[in-house]
Amino acid sequence: MSTRKKIALIGAGNIGGELAALCAKKELGDIVLFDIPAKADYAKGKALDLEQNGSVLGYDAKVTGTGNWEDCAGASVLIITAGIPRKPGQSRDDLVATNLPIIRNVADNAKKYCPDAFVIVISNPLDAMVYEFKRRTGFAAEKVVGMAGVLDSARFCLFLAREAGVSQKDVRAMVLGGHGDDMVPVLSACTIDGVNATHLIAKDKLDAIIARTRGGGGEIVKLMGTSAYYAPASSAMAMAEAYLLDQKRLLPCAAYLTGQYGYNDLYMGVPVVIGSKGVEKILELELSDDEKTMLAKSAKSVQSVVDVVKAST
Ligand code: APR
Repeated sequence: MSTRKKIALIGAGNIGGELAALCAKKELGDIVLFDIPAKADYAKGKALDLEQNGSVLGYDAKVTGTGNWEDCAGASVLIITAGIPRKPGQSRDDLVATNLPIIRNVADNAKKYCPDAFVIVISNPLDAMVYEFKRRTGFAAEKVVGMAGVLDSARFCLFLAREAGVSQKDVRAMVLGGHGDDMVPVLSACTIDGVNATHLIAKDKLDAIIARTRGGGGEIVKLMGTSAYYAPASSAMAMAEAYLLDQKRLLPCAAYLTGQYGYNDLYMGVPVVIGSKGVEKILELELSDDEKTMLAKSAKSVQSVVDVVKAST
């Protein structure tokens, strides 16, 4: 039996497939691509394609497709994309009715087969789905996170870089709060090689960038008819890598709040240090009054979806 770490990807669709490709190329471990029994052959086909890709690209990773949870047993990392993505005109919150029973089914199996995994939830509406996953499994808060902030921040960075006419590599920016239209791009922490972006980009342009970042997912859904998958997969891969390699990376993630920023019993995007213990630290940034107000609005939106989830048994 391989002694490589097992990475179980729950959902072998667009994000799951791209995640498998990235994790294999990075040789982060052996990969199990899981999907519902009706799509098990699809998952097996994708897995085979990716193993053959290893011959061309030269990586060592076993990729297995399956519809059987037993194949996920003992996974070190579990990344959940199970669910239905958005269609044009839908908000993430519109997905709650379809994706709630799915996340509950995944949570029950995860509890049984992968009790020691570091879990990254991607399914939408993200903050409510990760909340429900943790509530239902009873897993430790430091082992359950949601992927949204890395992706939203990447979108923010791209738009800032294009406006400033600089490389994306030189832009550092962070988006906090819920993964919805009220997300909070934190301008006070946004720099271009150390220089605050507000010194380099005019206010009206910054406002337009913030609006585009908030609608960044919807912009792609409108163009493609389904949601984005390359950047979402890379974002989750960065979080998994930080855990597996104990990198202590500071990444904005949906984390369980127990008083930080004034919020309790809620998952929301905050700056998190990820290492081998999972969420090792939640950083409390000093936010401007405007940012605090925006965060409160975002938290309220997240709470309203969580309330719907809690009310539905
Ligand atoms: N268990 C495992 N997989 C499931 C389950 C389940 N109970 N229910 C559905 N799936 C699978 C689907 O069969 C499908 O293959 O989840 C996969 C989702 O893949 P896509 O439809 O391609 O969706 P994707 O773009 O990968 O997005 C997945 O992430 O960003 C969010 O909003 C997005 O909630 C959506 C999720």
